Amino acid sequence: MRKTLVIGNWKMNGSLAANETLLDALLPAVKGLGGVEIALCPPFPYLSQAGWHLKDSGIALGAQTVNEHDSGAYTGEVSAAMLKELGCRYVLVGHSERRSLYRETDADSAAKFAAAKDAGLVPVLCVGETLAERQAGETEGVVARQVQAVIDALGIAALTDSIIAYEPVWAIGTGETASPEQAQAVHAFIRRLLAEQSEAVAASTPLLYGGSVKADNAATLFAQPDVDGGLVGGAALDADAFALIYQAA
Ligand code: G3P
Repeated sequence: MRKTLVIGNWKMNGSLAANETLLDALLPAVKGLGGVEIALCPPFPYLSQAGWHLKDSGIALGAQTVNEHDSGAYTGEVSAAMLKELGCRYVLVGHSERRSLYRETDADSAAKFAAAKDAGLVPVLCVGETLAERQAGETEGVVARQVQAVIDALGIAALTDSIIAYEPVWAIGTGETASPEQAQAVHAFIRRLLAEQSEAVAASTPLLYGGSVKADNAATLFAQPDVDGGLVGGAALDADAFALIYQAA
């Protein structure tokens, strides 16, 4: 049975004061709703503040990326062990903004995925095509390449206790949400890709949709048979909107 969850990715947003306001509003709005997991991924500097607020709240803590090394001369970087020590359960890996802006490769994502698993974190592997790739009919090829890079590096069993988030790049931050049919088609493709290699992994790996998930479209997206929840950016910065998205899951 796959779990359903909603993850909020704050990206490079927030302040100590704004975070207090957001968390003070969000916690009562999602309290006791159970059944669906919820997590927040603040920027690194706010992990301790958020972790303190989220303690015993039922909301899990996550990070937005991780270095693939255990420790060493990697100025500005954060290790998986450090994230674990700060109370993180999840860590995003291969977010399209890391791939496009910071030139992270499929091999980088596989290494980061491995480091997360080794530290006892749940990696959320982010995959998705650009508009040009979709218009060229390359969506399945791109997504398959990104998923298979982790499988080829680590083996299909490494995907146990992990999550895959399909985030079409053209839907991220644009308001151009994928239609439920578009999301379901790619999620079903990913499920088939996994099933060809392990029925157990395919059946147990949550597939989240991300890309302009909002309070008014979450329910139809989450109603799709292979959509197991959402990875939310902008709307996660609004307590009321994020609570409504969570309630829709
Ligand atoms: O990681 C989630 C993010 O990429 C989606 O952003 O603002 O389109 O919900 P947004």
